[in-house]
Amino acid sequence: MIRTQVRASKTYEVLTGSGLLASSGKIMREVSPDSQKILIVSETNVAPLYLQTVRASAEENGFEVHEYVYDAGEKSKNINSIAGMWGVMAQAGFTRTDLVVALGGGVTGDMAGFAASTFLRGINVVQIPTSLLAMVDASVGGKTGIDLPEGKNQVGAFWQPSAVIEDTDCLKTLPDEVFTEGMAEVIKYAFIMDTKLYELLDGNASRGIGIRDDEELMERIVGMCVADKADVIMNDEFDNGRRQTLNYGHTVGHVIEKNSNFTKPHGICVAKGMGIIIESCVAEGSLDVTEASRMLGLICAYGLPVEDDITPEKAVEGAMNDKKKRGSTLSVILVNRIGRSEIRKMDPDRFLKFLKAGKD
Ligand SMILES: NC(=O)c1ccc[n+]([C@@H]2O[C@H](COP(=O)([O-])OP(=O)(O)OC[C@H]3O[C@@H](n4cnc5c(N)ncnc54)[C@H](O)[C@@H]3O)[C@@H](O)[C@H]2O)c1
Ligand SMILES: [Zn+2]
Repeated sequence: MIRTQVRASKTYEVLTGSGLLASSGKIMREVSPDSQKILIVSETNVAPLYLQTVRASAEENGFEVHEYVYDAGEKSKNINSIAGMWGVMAQAGFTRTDLVVALGGGVTGDMAGFAASTFLRGINVVQIPTSLLAMVDASVGGKTGIDLPEGKNQVGAFWQPSAVIEDTDCLKTLPDEVFTEGMAEVIKYAFIMDTKLYELLDGNASRGIGIRDDEELMERIVGMCVADKADVIMNDEFDNGRRQTLNYGHTVGHVIEKNSNFTKPHGICVAKGMGIIIESCVAEGSLDVTEASRMLGLICAYGLPVEDDITPEKAVEGAMNDKKKRGSTLSVILVNRIGRSEIRKMDPDRFLKFLKAGKD
């Protein structure tokens, strides 16, 4: 098992390893000694697989367990689900010392965290991520929230968990395409800040997503990503500076995702976004050709695409409409060498020129 400490507005541990669900109740008890009740938030795909194990472990450790299970998928990430969670807690008489537990992918983590951040003006949450994306990204760092019809993640709060319990065995039941998507975020960490992770991924590239069955390797990979994210957060919890580097591939990726009306999965769009930025960096001379082909090769090796037919004009227009813009300039994340990233401010004209050069 790997322990990673996160020091943000709250200090907590991320535990990563095989078989941790069975001892999840004990860990909850350690971080929440005074809780009587817990609300386990989960969904229709994950609950049948893992809820019973978590429930049994919680009960063994003296918790009174309540459940809220919603219909799996991003479409449930709305205020109705949150109201449902608030309702269960209110009816069961939850107090400030009780606990919310998120058991599922990023949708579950974001919603359970948001419900916890608001109920009685904030109660503790323990994250138990079950998807690769949620383990390496969503569960760590305290961003929580829901979507509005007007846009994704439009309402939310920063709310750090009390602990994150990552049982890497859960990765074995993930559908192939969901695992593959998560690999885009894993590769992102390698590119922006982690040459050791790059080497590990490159060394296993011939296995493709077959790596998911290698428990020891997955524990190492997930642990390295968590350490990277923790490192970024400890320096910039509220996303005013370095945390923006985690947006590598996302500026264009988000636009592709949005333009597909969210039919193209997030990780696929991020991979395409990284591919497009890599080509543009090569064209402007800030990234060496050999380095670029190693990067593109790695993305492809794990079954992800590196191209999209979006025009540079559409990409810039979409990026300017995205909430992450500040004023009239965009913060575009570039990688100049594997393991080293840069935040470059570009006005729309400059960004258009940059993207057009990459297309040629
Ligand atoms: N808070 C953050 O910092 C942050 C960061 C990145 C993404 N997110 C959010 O995370 C969400 C995406 O996360 P996601 O891809 O995990 O989505 P998700 O929660 O919808 O899970 C993806 C799919 O995998 C299934 N699943 C999850 N774990 C499983 C398992 N172990 N076995 C079988 N099936 C399993 C789910 O039922 C779902 O169908 C988005 O809403 C995004 O906004 C948040
Ligand atoms: Zn992402």
